[in-house]
Amino acid sequence: MEKKKNSEQNRKVVVVGAGGVGATFCYALAQSGLADEIVLTDRNEDLVEGQVLDLVHGQPFFPTVKIRSGSPADYADAQLVVITAGAAQKPGETRLQLLKKNAEITGSIAEDVAKNDCKGVILVVSNPVDVLTHVAIKRSGWPKSRVIGSGTVLDSARFRYFLARHCNVDVHNVHAYILGEHGDSEFAAWSMTNVAGIKIDEYCPVCGKCSDWKFSKAEIEKQVRESAYHIINFKGSTQYAVGLSLVKITGAILRGQNSVLTVSTLLNGEYGINDVCLSLPCIVSDKGVERIVVSPLSESELILLKKSSDILKKAKESIE
Ligand SMILES: NC(=O)c1ccc[n+]([C@@H]2O[C@H](COP(=O)([O-])OP(=O)(O)OC[C@H]3O[C@@H](n4cnc5c(N)ncnc54)[C@H](O)[C@@H]3O)[C@@H](O)[C@H]2O)c1
Repeated sequence: MEKKKNSEQNRKVVVVGAGGVGATFCYALAQSGLADEIVLTDRNEDLVEGQVLDLVHGQPFFPTVKIRSGSPADYADAQLVVITAGAAQKPGETRLQLLKKNAEITGSIAEDVAKNDCKGVILVVSNPVDVLTHVAIKRSGWPKSRVIGSGTVLDSARFRYFLARHCNVDVHNVHAYILGEHGDSEFAAWSMTNVAGIKIDEYCPVCGKCSDWKFSKAEIEKQVRESAYHIINFKGSTQYAVGLSLVKITGAILRGQNSVLTVSTLLNGEYGINDVCLSLPCIVSDKGVERIVVSPLSESELILLKKSSDILKKAKESIE
């Protein structure tokens, strides 16, 4: 029988973890029209049933999409398995403290996905996402391109939001990336930041709005880094913006879009870094990470990247 072309395949996404992030992602994904089928699973069966019922009652308002609860057998023909299972970050708790609790959960799910002979992509969301992406690569035994983490896609969105608000321009005209760890050592790649196609440092004199641009840059970067902590202090967890960033990654995978996204990926010598997962701009398609876009970072950015990778390497080694 002739193999179905990607465009003719059932676009099936399995979401593991029906908590705040998993359910919000399903809700946003259903509205996007990107998936034909969304399957939700969780070790808490009541929670899954409740979330699925709540979602399917929205069917008249969604583009056509099948939504149901499922089991590990559903991994077999999924194009994408999104892992949001695990413990959520508590107020005051760092992402790295969550590591041990979540490594076993993510690892065993990745193993199950591989055992079920899934041919798709694994997207790890649970925190600390970079280390758990590494765990999922090892435990699945898959090539690194097909196991990716949501990384700093969310942080880059926050960065664009704060820049757009500061500069008073449409966020869609701001291109900017947060690189490194999805966590405390992440950093803004100012050398790659532009507004209206103009490098940010050249755009600023044109705009002339700031009295002290250097101070503004530091403030914006701090706001991005502390965003999750602020939201968690206010309401316990984050869900909406992360749900939307997952829809963006899902679109790149289901449609084979070759989108440039700062997902977490395993480095193999890029910038002299080996065997660590962290976020760099990557070309993302139905095959996962097609390519890392290795751009000429500034000297200070290279130092920050190395610092981030050292922190992640230590965290990874602490569970080996
Ligand atoms: N990468 C990011 O940008 C980002 C952003 C926000 C949250 N997160 C992370 O996403 C994860 C989920 O957050 P949340 O707010 O949805 O938490 P949550 O507690 O609301 O949901 C987690 C769900 O995982 C389920 N679960 C636990 N172990 C499981 C297993 N072995 N199999 C199946 N399901 C299992 C739980 O029953 C629970 O329903 C956390 O690790 C959080 O830190 C990541």
